[in-house]
Amino acid sequence: MTRRIFIRGLGSYLPEKVLTNSELEKMVDTSDEWIVTRTGIRERHIAAADQATSDLAAEAAKLALADASLDAKDMDAIFVATVTPDMPFPSTACFVQQKIGAGNCPCVGVEVGCSGIVYMLELASGLLERGPYKNILIIAADKLSAVTDWTDRSTCVILADGAAAMVLSTEEKGVRAEYLGGFIAANGAGAELLCQPGGGSRNPATEKSVAERLHFLKMNGKEVFKHAVKDMAFAVDMALRRCGIGPDDIAHFVPHQANMRIIEAIAEYVHIPLERFVAVLQRTGNTSSASLAIAMDMARREGRFKRGELLMPVAFGAGLTSSAAVLRWNG
Ligand SMILES: CC(C)(COP(=O)(O)OP(=O)(O)OC[C@H]1O[C@@H](n2cnc3c(N)ncnc32)[C@H](O)[C@@H]1OP(=O)(O)O)[C@@H](O)C(=O)NCCC(=O)NCCS
Repeated sequence: MTRRIFIRGLGSYLPEKVLTNSELEKMVDTSDEWIVTRTGIRERHIAAADQATSDLAAEAAKLALADASLDAKDMDAIFVATVTPDMPFPSTACFVQQKIGAGNCPCVGVEVGCSGIVYMLELASGLLERGPYKNILIIAADKLSAVTDWTDRSTCVILADGAAAMVLSTEEKGVRAEYLGGFIAANGAGAELLCQPGGGSRNPATEKSVAERLHFLKMNGKEVFKHAVKDMAFAVDMALRRCGIGPDDIAHFVPHQANMRIIEAIAEYVHIPLERFVAVLQRTGNTSSASLAIAMDMARREGRFKRGELLMPVAFGAGLTSSAAVLRWNG
């Protein structure tokens, strides 16, 4: 018999330092007006120099564990989704394991860009369904500021730092939500539209690679935008079909927080009123893998979700990956 999968705890962490659009005006040739009109973003949080991705991840993990009333030692596995690992190896999940005081459980790195949370829901639920795993900690964390080219105005105005975590459990005890199913996909044909070309085995770090700024995130914004709308709309449709429900059954869509225009375009594409989409990117910018879970955590703290309502996290990211899931909110 398939076991039911619950989100027992949820937590998110944004670093203390806030970087506003007016501060960015002093760094690159941009304006608050351009950033707000073209993206919706007003401010974002930036990690301190001595904070690595695992530090952000550990903060979010501790909050999710407290929310679940569970201890790190209760975790049977730890997944961390990030595109800004502390180091190319070992997995950032291993650093987090040490920081939160978990036992010697398996630690898994997931490299799917902004689709991290939904990918981990799908992958970890497979382990939970099969057993003997009972509790799995999934964490999405990124310090995008570490790979941001602060001279490139087309990317530095949207990227930000943050982390979010969920405790998944097979035990229905004080749960926040139930995971009802989802859809994950990737289209590698678009892999180079959004990438960090330097520092890996293709272009190992050399003086030349650094001089060519290959260690920074590169993005073809226009193409990524088009894929984001089409692929997320497809993921929404597939996840709805898999769960045997229609768009009107979903009370709240919680999309990846990349750009307000992308969220508006998806709403239009799938004929769903914009009011049913959660948007917090005005305050957070694009925090990559963590963004939709940060949005979910902020919205639930504002009391936006009601018991029994269906939620749909939907994401899109480097890869190009896409994903959507259906959750039943419990409170
Ligand atoms: C990056 C993005 C905001 C750029 O917005 P856009 O409307 O597509 O802007 P364009 O790239 O067409 O640029 C339009 C003009 O604005 C300029 N511009 C770009 N960034 C600017 C900035 N920060 N400030 C002022 N002008 C800027 C460009 O140079 C261009 O000028 P030109 O017409 O003189 O050449 C948008 O493409 C986007 O959000 N893409 C998706 C990004 C995304 O979601 N990434 C994460 C996926 S996980």
